[in-house]
Amino acid sequence: MVLERQEHEDLIEAKMREAYSEIVVDHALHPRNLGDMKDADAFGRITGPCGDTMEIWLKVSGDTVTAASFATDGCAATIATGSMTTEMVKGKTLGEVLGISQQDILSALDGLPEGNRHCALLAANTLKKVAKEYLAFRKEPWKRAYRKY
Ligand code: FES
Repeated sequence: MVLERQEHEDLIEAKMREAYSEIVVDHALHPRNLGDMKDADAFGRITGPCGDTMEIWLKVSGDTVTAASFATDGCAATIATGSMTTEMVKGKTLGEVLGISQQDILSALDGLPEGNRHCALLAANTLKKVAKEYLAFRKEPWKRAYRKY
């Protein structure tokens, strides 16, 4: 028997609820800040050992992150970590952003199953890369000419 589309979606959601916290399910099904940012001040991309890629864009004013967005080809947990991470950075200074760890993201999501904890590490590492590169470019702006994106 072929499942109707709505039944199929309900089944997927029910399976997610068995595995993930309420917060993870919410961010996976309704990701915040999803998509690239045309006028970003900073961008970074990392492909993790599992083969999934996380991309993060930041808009910075002075020393403060005013907007953030992400894209990923990863699983539901990766989408949730990108969504939560980009929510967490808004209004934070770059110093604070550099301090955001895998554990901070896991805590904000009310945890992830053991097999998905690396998704939060991918988000934390990508975020650090973006913030570090932004600070490096700010120190030596001429290096922007050599960036590959
Ligand atoms: Fe690889 Fe989520 S499964 S980052």
